[in-house]
Amino acid sequence: MALSAAEKWLWLPRNRWVSLPDVPSLRRHRECKHDTFVSPRRSLRSVRGGPVRYAAGAGREVTRLLHVKATPTGPRSRSAAVAEAFVDAFLECHPQATLDVLDLSATTLPPVGAVAVAAKKNAISGTTGSADEAMSWQQTRDLVRRFTDADHYLFSVPMWNFGIPYLLKHFIDIVTQPGLTFRLDPRHGYQGLLTGRRACVVYTSGVYTPGCPPEFGVDFQSAYLNYWLRTIGVDPVIEVALRPTDFTGSLAADLDRAREDARKAAHTI
Ligand SMILES: Cc1cc2nc3c(=O)[nH]c(=O)nc-3n(C[C@H](O)[C@H](O)[C@H](O)COP(=O)(O)O)c2cc1C
Repeated sequence: MALSAAEKWLWLPRNRWVSLPDVPSLRRHRECKHDTFVSPRRSLRSVRGGPVRYAAGAGREVTRLLHVKATPTGPRSRSAAVAEAFVDAFLECHPQATLDVLDLSATTLPPVGAVAVAAKKNAISGTTGSADEAMSWQQTRDLVRRFTDADHYLFSVPMWNFGIPYLLKHFIDIVTQPGLTFRLDPRHGYQGLLTGRRACVVYTSGVYTPGCPPEFGVDFQSAYLNYWLRTIGVDPVIEVALRPTDFTGSLAADLDRAREDARKAAHTI
C-alpha cells in the first residue's frame, strides 16, 4: 500500500503507521529528509523533570537535540558559530524540538579517578561498594541519562594537539559505560546501544586541513570521535569542517561555506 507523506509521519512501535491531519507545521517538516520516528524504546517521559516529550494532542514525540560544546572560547568560537547555523536550521525543520546545550567548559564533570573506576567495577559486578562510590556512580548515571535522552547530537569540536580537547575526552570517559551506551559481545566485539540516533560534528582546526603534509598535522580528531560515536551506535555521523581557521586568508568565505554545510546537514539529519 502506498503511503502519503502525512501517513509516513508517524511510525509507531510494531510498525503501525497512522495518518495525521495535513497541518502547516507538518508541511514545513516534510522539507526535511527524514520522517519522525517514534522509537519503541522511548516512551512518554519527562526530560530531567522538564516538559513531557510527547507533543500534547499530536501523538508524536518531540525530537530532542543535544549540543555538546567542546570549546572553551565562548562567543569567539568558530566551531560554535558553525554549530549555531545547524541549530537554527534544525529548529526550522523540527519546530517542536527541544535543545539541550551541554557546554563542557561551563560544566563540572565528575572526576574519573579511583573512586569512579571502583564504582564502575561495582556496577559491572553488581556489588554495592562504599558510599563515595555509590555517589560517584549516581553522578555518572545522571550524565549518561542526559546523553542518552537525546534523539540526535551536535558536537562542536576544535582540534587540540591533533586530537579532541581534553574536556570532551573526559565526557566520553564518563558516558561510555557497558550496559548503558555499549555492550561487549565475546564473539562480535563492541555493540552500540544508542542506535537510531544521528550526529553532526563541526570540526575546526587552526593549521591542519585534509591532505596537508604531515608536518602540518595529522587528524586524530575526527578519526577518534567518529569511531567512538559509531561504536556506541550513533550512525550516521555527518561531518561539517572549517579547516584551517588560522593558516588561511579566506576565513570569512570558508565560514560562510561551513555554515551552509551545517544548514544542509540539519536538513538531512
Ligand atoms: C590547546 C590548543 C591546541 C591546538 N592544537 C591544534 C592542532 O593540533 N592543530 C591545529 O590545526 N590547530 C590546533 N589548535 C587551533 C584550533 O583548533 C583552532 O583555533 C580552532 O579554530 C578553534 O576552534 P574554536 O574557535 O571553536 O575554539 C589548537 C588550539 C588550542 C587552544
